[in-house]
Amino acid sequence: MIRVRRARLGEGAVVAEQIRLSLPKELAGLTIWHCGGVDRWVERRIEARDGAVFYVAVDEGEEVGERVVGAVEFRVVDAAVFLNQIGVAASRRGESIGGRLLAAGLRDLGAAQGLGSVALDVDPANKHVYEWYRRMGFEGGQEIHWLLGALRPQAVEPAPVEGWEEARREHACFGFSGFRLWAAGEAHEIGKLGDALFRITTDRAWNEPAVHAALARLDAGRRVLLIQGALVEGADAVRRTQRLQAPLSAVLSKLP
Ligand SMILES: CC(C)(COP(=O)(O)OP(=O)(O)OC[C@H]1O[C@@H](n2cnc3c(N)ncnc32)[C@H](O)[C@@H]1OP(=O)(O)O)[C@@H](O)C(=O)NCCC(=O)NCCS
Repeated sequence: MIRVRRARLGEGAVVAEQIRLSLPKELAGLTIWHCGGVDRWVERRIEARDGAVFYVAVDEGEEVGERVVGAVEFRVVDAAVFLNQIGVAASRRGESIGGRLLAAGLRDLGAAQGLGSVALDVDPANKHVYEWYRRMGFEGGQEIHWLLGALRPQAVEPAPVEGWEEARREHACFGFSGFRLWAAGEAHEIGKLGDALFRITTDRAWNEPAVHAALARLDAGRRVLLIQGALVEGADAVRRTQRLQAPLSAVLSKLP
């Protein structure tokens, strides 16, 4: 029998594993899910009940004991529920486990936080999942590009760094971290993924010489992963997704 419930302390590793296994191969190394300490990060979120919310589908079969066969991660972004990750064990797909995971989280989060809409990013080439979301009422389609490029160090004053020491501690624990750079009166959120990448989310950061100068000074060996709405010069496209959204009540009316 399958039971869906919020993830518990001690399930960080199994939740991370379930999500990692459901990611497409081309994302290896480009997300937090392949960083060494992500299990600890999930565990920390479960314990602190902040930042991200995880639900699991547990098969309670008598012979096997409790076994996690699906997991989902939600966040709250711009006053909407954001479905960040969902994965069901390949051998158990098509049994409505994904639908039940989605329903459990949306019911809880929508009611607890009074949020009226839900959003997600999906690769349109992932056809059966894309069509599933469309049948639930998701629409929109703003494109999000994943781009990889090299740092372009230039002879300019590097942007001032904020939160670097905290990022070092986080990095040692989780294998990924975040800090900020200040340039042109704006704070740019910078992610540090594993040993090889900085991650940025605006073309303003990509086009800002002081950002490149600061990143090159911090770690010249890293490349830059840029995830945002437009192609840019000097970075290669590695993936394209679409941002879809729907009223939460409409989605729930279609779910088990
Ligand atoms: C997306 C995912 C979590 C869905 O989980 P699931 O347990 O299979 O979900 P459900 O059984 O509720 O089925 C979802 C829909 O897909 C359809 N479906 C399921 N398996 C299918 C298959 N092999 N071929 C075509 N359609 C299929 C079902 O008919 C259902 O649609 P419906 O509810 O409108 O009838 C699962 O496919 C998965 O882990 N995929 C890999 C990770 C992924 O792509 N995540 C999404 C990233 S945005």
